[in-house]
Amino acid sequence: MKTLIVYGTKSGASKECAEILGEKLSNSTIIDIDQEKPALNEFTHIIVGAGVRNDKMYKPIRDFLKKINRIYYLKP
Ligand SMILES: Cc1cc2nc3c(=O)[nH]c(=O)nc-3n(C[C@H](O)[C@H](O)[C@H](O)COP(=O)(O)O)c2cc1C
Repeated sequence: MKTLIVYGTKSGASKECAEILGEKLSNSTIIDIDQEKPALNEFTHIIVGAGVRNDKMYKPIRDFLKKINRIYYLKP
């Protein structure tokens, strides 16, 4: 099991949460969506975190979720 923890943050809270999770989960990798595009095929599990403003998740994370939804939807 290899876990990707991907987060997007404006004021740092999601980063803090990702780091706490990363300490608890062995064999996990933390990625800031604004710094790096994760290679999804390297992971068996994905945890996604982001701040919400005015009922909307941080846009780079919304875009990431749309992208992975397309990828996994198309998988047999
Ligand atoms: C201007 C503003 C708007 C917010 N709107 C929402 C909201 O609609 N719903 C919600 O649950 N939290 C809302 N929050 C709270 C943030 O989601 C929360 O502080 C979050 O931890 C920020 O994450 P980040 O530090 O990773 O960006 C808002 C915060 C700010 C500053």
